[in-house]
Amino acid sequence: MKHKEDKGKSNRSTIIEAEFNRKALHYESNRLANWYQAQGEQILHQITSLDGAVIDVGCGTGWLLRRLIKQNPYATCIGIDLSKQMIEQAKIKIHVERLNNVSFIHGDWEDAAIIEKVRDRLDQPVSKIVCVSSFHYFRHPEIAVRSMHDLLAPNGSLFLLDRAMDGSIGTFTWDFLHRYLIKDQVRFYKTSELVSLLEKTGFENVRVLKKINRWLWKQKLYTSLALVSGIRGVTPVEAS
Ligand SMILES: C[S@@+](CC[C@H](N)C(=O)[O-])C[C@H]1O[C@@H](n2cnc3c(N)ncnc32)[C@H](O)[C@@H]1O
Repeated sequence: MKHKEDKGKSNRSTIIEAEFNRKALHYESNRLANWYQAQGEQILHQITSLDGAVIDVGCGTGWLLRRLIKQNPYATCIGIDLSKQMIEQAKIKIHVERLNNVSFIHGDWEDAAIIEKVRDRLDQPVSKIVCVSSFHYFRHPEIAVRSMHDLLAPNGSLFLLDRAMDGSIGTFTWDFLHRYLIKDQVRFYKTSELVSLLEKTGFENVRVLKKINRWLWKQKLYTSLALVSGIRGVTPVEAS
């Protein structure tokens, strides 16, 4: 039975990986590229200086990490993505732009072995973790956030930006379709649910830094986003 469940999970991840493998080559020039990059800009507004390492979970082609390393050339940036082709593109782009201190790992954030691989690659404590437009793909959101919490150094920050169901009938409808018609793992959350998730996994000072509810923002019909942040405290969190 367990075997069957695991197989189901990996099949669903394979479908998502295949989707982004198809998109990878044109990901930074397609119709939605401006929309995704504008989301990355929201993170750049928050991270004005860097000490230590930054991890980008679901980094895609690494646009955000390229911007971050240009502003902070002595930082260490590591991107992780489920899609092999996204990671290939990310590697090509840092090579073309001759950027150092950025590396990419192909793998599933929900796989403990991948998190260990990230840990092994670190040469500095993790001061920031960013996750932009990727969170809604996770099968076990609580475990995914807990892994982010555990990888951060004390006083390190998580910035999580994703679509928010509140204020958007469209996102609410997509969530319904994914749950009951498409029946895949994609789930959207209300801003309050994202906040609760961060609090539940031990983050302190959890805040909603930004909400965007706009028509025709960056060529998308309607946008509903929430950027939430939390800080890893200095005392260890007991597992619940
Ligand atoms: C919409 S793209 C966002 C990419 C990038 N963060 C951006 O803002 O442009 C979502 C990305 O999340 C990745 N992803 C989905 N599930 C993942 C997982 N479990 N582990 C790592 N990456 C994942 C996908 O492969 C895809 O590249």
